[in-house]
Amino acid sequence: MKKMWSGRFRQPLDPVFERWQRSFGFDRRLLQYELAASAAHARALKNAGILSAEELISILQGLDQIGERAAVTPAFLDDDEAEDVHHFVEKQLVALIGDAGYKLHSGRSRNEQIATDLRLYVRAAIDQLRGDIAELCMVFLDRAEQAGDAAMPAYTHLQKAEPVLVGHWLLAYVEMFLRDAERLADCRKRVNFCPLGSGAVAGATLALDRAFMAEALGFDRATANSIDATSDRDFALEFVNALAILAMHLSRWSEEMILFSTQEFGFLGLPESYSTGSSAMPQKKNPDLLELVRGKAGKILGNAAALAVTMKGLPLAYNKDLQETQQPVFDSVDALLQMLPLVTEWMRAVEFQYDRKLQSAQSGFMNAWAAATYLVQRGVPSRMAHEKIGKAVQMCLERNCELQDLPLADLQSLSPTFTDDFYDALKLKSVLAIHDVPGGTAPTRVREAIPAARNRIAALREEVHAPETHAHA
Ligand code: ARG
Repeated sequence: MKKMWSGRFRQPLDPVFERWQRSFGFDRRLLQYELAASAAHARALKNAGILSAEELISILQGLDQIGERAAVTPAFLDDDEAEDVHHFVEKQLVALIGDAGYKLHSGRSRNEQIATDLRLYVRAAIDQLRGDIAELCMVFLDRAEQAGDAAMPAYTHLQKAEPVLVGHWLLAYVEMFLRDAERLADCRKRVNFCPLGSGAVAGATLALDRAFMAEALGFDRATANSIDATSDRDFALEFVNALAILAMHLSRWSEEMILFSTQEFGFLGLPESYSTGSSAMPQKKNPDLLELVRGKAGKILGNAAALAVTMKGLPLAYNKDLQETQQPVFDSVDALLQMLPLVTEWMRAVEFQYDRKLQSAQSGFMNAWAAATYLVQRGVPSRMAHEKIGKAVQMCLERNCELQDLPLADLQSLSPTFTDDFYDALKLKSVLAIHDVPGGTAPTRVREAIPAARNRIAALREEVHAPETHAHA
């Protein structure tokens, strides 16, 4: 079969090298974008007077047919000769419409094509991932709403710190995931430029209307510099880094769920449909879904590093190294598109052990700061109040009890400021109510935080589903 570049060569390629340097094994998944970009280029060629109206029609029909065949018969793509997706399309087009198919490549280079295809792919992936993130957030929010006034401990240094509402804790994850969605939206702004017409490095050799091609593909505008456009993969790098942060969030979440599912914590029961047993120990129920999410985060973070290292030594402009930038992107997208719906369903199915959480929220001196605040509100300087309550905790440790179990006389031996109402201030309800500021864990605050988050998620959903300019030329 004809190579796209064989003219100046006297010898054929070494067959082992020839196979090894191909990218069709992975860039075949860019076919739909290659077809769309080719159609836009063909129209520009027609407008520039290079293609006749009949040639354009036959090329566009040929491109459509290639897309249809690939959709209906995936084995169509098992092409043992194609070097890359660009070569594949040319080959199939010529097979369908004859030599006119060779005219499609007039005035363009594969360097601008791959840059364009990859941008179209990343843009579509961003939209899909943001949709999945919105669904995940909705489930967290539903669980937060169901939790009502249920309480649990919050930790610092993984030591019990202060009681919080379960809803407040769940909303912490919603914040993380909403930032991920926002990062992706921001990245999309720099993805959405069209390299077509940049040629191999110095621009197209024909007078192609770049604005026209950009618009046909739903890009905001054409890229501004042909050297940069053909060698830039910042958009992919930003994208895989945004995905690395998302995966890191999912991994932290997994770690916490694994911890909370242990008998030692007992805060949640693992859903059986997402856990496995042990072939050896009959009693086991293992948190496999969570462990795999945590494990796969490793390679998603690795993909971000791989891409950065691939780029760091490249002089301008296109270098074949850039072919190696595709797979880390695909791999991170695949991993997350599979993972996110599973995490969403896991979260819907998990059983919270509210009794255990409550019990834990009421022990371990988590009302100590509230106790110090009681003194502060009665005029004791904060440093002294801290000291007094520290002493009271010491007493409790000796007696193996909690602050509310100390008799008033003992408390008064530490400070005359203590009176009977101290015991009320130590109750879980009072402790929770202290943090009565926006963003705090007072039940009224959490109750207003839930609809506020719901509005943000609804806006995200709407953005993702809004009919967008994904026009295929
Ligand atoms: N398969 C190539 C890639 O992914 C397409 C561009 C080839 N360009 C070249 N000058 N050999 O980068």
